[in-house]
Amino acid sequence: MTDLKEKQERDQWGSKLGFILAAAGSAVGLGNLWKFPYTAGQNGGGVFVLVYLALVLIIGFTLMMAELVLGRHTQLSPVGAYRKLRKKWAWVGFIGVLASYLILTFYSVIGGWIIKYIVTAFQGGFNTTDLGALEGVFTAFISSPVEPLIYHGIFMLMTLAIVMGGISGGIEKFSKILMPGLFIMMIVIMVRSITLPGAMAGVEYLLKPDFSKLNLSVVLAALGQVFFSLSLGMGVIITYGSYLGKNESLPESSFFIPAIDTAVALLAGLTILPAVFALGFDPAGGPGLIFITLPGVFAKMPLGSFFAILFFLLVLFAAVTSSISLLESAVSFFVDELKWNRKAATILLGVLAFVIGVPSSLANGVWGHITFINGLNFFDSMSFFAENLLLPLSGLLLCIFIGWFWGTDKAVAEATNNGKIKFGLAPTWSFIIKWVAPIAIGFILMQSVITLF
Ligand code: PFF
Repeated sequence: MTDLKEKQERDQWGSKLGFILAAAGSAVGLGNLWKFPYTAGQNGGGVFVLVYLALVLIIGFTLMMAELVLGRHTQLSPVGAYRKLRKKWAWVGFIGVLASYLILTFYSVIGGWIIKYIVTAFQGGFNTTDLGALEGVFTAFISSPVEPLIYHGIFMLMTLAIVMGGISGGIEKFSKILMPGLFIMMIVIMVRSITLPGAMAGVEYLLKPDFSKLNLSVVLAALGQVFFSLSLGMGVIITYGSYLGKNESLPESSFFIPAIDTAVALLAGLTILPAVFALGFDPAGGPGLIFITLPGVFAKMPLGSFFAILFFLLVLFAAVTSSISLLESAVSFFVDELKWNRKAATILLGVLAFVIGVPSSLANGVWGHITFINGLNFFDSMSFFAENLLLPLSGLLLCIFIGWFWGTDKAVAEATNNGKIKFGLAPTWSFIIKWVAPIAIGFILMQSVITLF
């Protein structure tokens, strides 16, 4: 095994833009294009968007910078990063790595569904506006035992191939092409959507807050969405920060990444909800919104098949730039901590993630009756365990670590390159990381734990 342990030069981002696009690529994914529109649709539209924006500004920005600081300061992935600063905290880094790896296993299953929808769109398979029929197509596909596994495998192979290429050669190169492509495609489809007759009701639903719909569950949904969408609490941003050169401005990056992510989420909302309204569908349709309702929307559009192909391709791009970051988190643990060769680690972890994803895929059909946490099937249990428990736990410990153990002064010094960069918000940032963020995140975590009993 000695060849697996050979010492390697640590890779770095080739350019600042490449880094921002790769980090934004991690953030922008199924969370924005699939989850955001339907979560907004279920949580009162405009009021959810408003709360979401406020939380991105307060919590998203703060935690983004905290993770980047930790990664760049130590130049290590999460476990090593914590260990380098405080030996006893190494396990906290491991929670994030575990969370991202578990998410990868079922993220890839959904990624596979997207590939299937591209294939179906190419075959002109969505030529109906009958929601019942479209639901039938979707359910028949996800509940069949073999076909979703093939697509899950294809998605995982794509992820694996890119991560094997390393940082600047693989992830960065890929993101630099895909992210701008994504933007352009989104804008085209959004224009198509909001110019449909009756679409303005959807725009209004999304942008005009109705405060009578504000309640605790809206806030909880929004905060959970901020974490998932910005890839926080997973060690992914720590890892990406660790490949960052010492002269970059961290406050600036911490602003741009959430800004891009939020712009795409809003674009996705403005693409999907106006069309849903224009065509008289239900905005609170839930997770099926893009798989059941949207094909119906495309079928009612002129050039529908073309837009369907374009849309699902775009979702695939976004999903892949996220899944590579999920895999990279575990790979960098093997490379940095266990001194494995990158290729060997990538292949092993990719294949293993595929295998662990198999029961998640089967949980939508033949294994649907087997339940684990809270009566949830394997897929939903994995999602609950990783997103609702591990993720807020890791985020909470990150705040406590920086705010109360390592020290916000050291963090600010790293972020500003020892005072070379002006960062007027430093006191606000420190206050949020010490008080506001841990209380808010602790509250979310408590809610999740309560549901366990
Ligand atoms: N942020 C991604 C999305 O919105 O789809 C999902 C994700 C990627 C979450 C990477 C966590 C992560 F570490």
